Amino acid sequence: MKKALLTGVTGQDGSFLAEFLLKRGYEVYGMYRRTSLEILDRLLPVHKEIHLVQGDMTDATSIIRNLKEIKPDEVYNLAAQSFVPASWTQPVSTGDMNALGVARILESIRLLDPTMRFYQASSSEMFGKAQEVPQNEKTPFYPRSPYGVAKVYGYWITVNYRESYGLHASNGILFNHESPRRGKQFVTRKISHAVAKIKLGLLDYVELGNLNAKRDWGYTGDLVEAMWLMLQQDNPDDYVIATGKSRSVKEFAEEAFKVVGMDLKWEDEGLNEIGKVDGRIAIKVNKKFYRPAEVDFLVGDATKARKVLGWKPKVSFKELVKMMVESDLKLLTSNPNA
Ligand code: NAP
Ligand code: GDD
Repeated sequence: MKKALLTGVTGQDGSFLAEFLLKRGYEVYGMYRRTSLEILDRLLPVHKEIHLVQGDMTDATSIIRNLKEIKPDEVYNLAAQSFVPASWTQPVSTGDMNALGVARILESIRLLDPTMRFYQASSSEMFGKAQEVPQNEKTPFYPRSPYGVAKVYGYWITVNYRESYGLHASNGILFNHESPRRGKQFVTRKISHAVAKIKLGLLDYVELGNLNAKRDWGYTGDLVEAMWLMLQQDNPDDYVIATGKSRSVKEFAEEAFKVVGMDLKWEDEGLNEIGKVDGRIAIKVNKKFYRPAEVDFLVGDATKARKVLGWKPKVSFKELVKMMVESDLKLLTSNPNA
């Protein structure tokens, strides 16, 4: 039976990947950091089937201990401070976790057992102020946040350990991926949750930032398969994983209101736009959600992943929005405070 160690197992991707690997017969170990609350919500369906071990990306000793004791065949590094705005308020700790944390794992693998295969959760945020459209594996990086800058280091240290020491280390350059388990701070879930609340009469309106930002939004359940496929190849490599279609925050909101049978209309109010349903304000713009430097437009070209890994997305944008809004409706109907 193959053993996999996942960092960031309590996160959105960690929970999906843990389920995916369990279905393929893996013995799954999930590393989580100690918090004052037990927050294993996302793992509820499977937490009894996986081995939870403590560790922190900033603590090399915990990484070494886990690798030494578990002896995994595959290591998936999903742990990160993943919320882009927080990287401006905590630039140094973001670098510690998202950049140096990757070096800590790679160096530990090299010293303990260089046959362990390694996956690094790289990000389309590295493309930032995108230098070409669509973005592929050869597109130069131009990160626009301390988060993106740290991820560029994580990317290159992974490439470097592959080239320096022959490690089976791969980068998945994943574009935004969403699900009902997405954190509520991220824009898609913020919208699906607000739309469900507005429909249920629990909220009047939601405040958002830049409505014109465009992202290549895929379904997390589809994208975790690509992570696993990368580690099943004879040769390690780097792959863009994306749907190839980009939508604006506005379009996501319009689609979300459609799911609950509400028609969202945009109006200018001074400098800002507002979104109305049935003549009532449902979306306001608040500049506090704007970023010091924005990533305006991302769209990925996953041709290489399609050809080499045989990977392609299955869930469409419409299906994804529907899934998220319906899940939040269900959640809030059973618990209006959720
Ligand atoms: P997420 O839901 O925020 O999960 C992040 C995970 O990292 C959580 O389990 C978190 O633990 C853990 N973590 C944070 N700091 C840690 C530390 N110092 N030590 C150990 N664990 C720590 O993010 P996600 O959406 O699942 O994303 C997974 C990975 O993919 C991240 O590296 C992210 O940057 C990258 N990525 C995500 C996307 C996307 O669209 N989702 C796209 C490209 C790349 P707590 O629960 O304790 O906070
Ligand atoms: N969070 C948030 N909240 N974003 C908003 C809001 C709002 O109220 N209003 C507009 N936006 C815009 C942001 O300015 C950004 O351009 C876009 O919506 C997406 O924001 P997020 O959902 O926070 O995601 P992200 O693209 O910054 O980062 C996510 O995707 C990256 C991959 O490209 C995260 O999952 C990163 O960890 C990941 O690497």
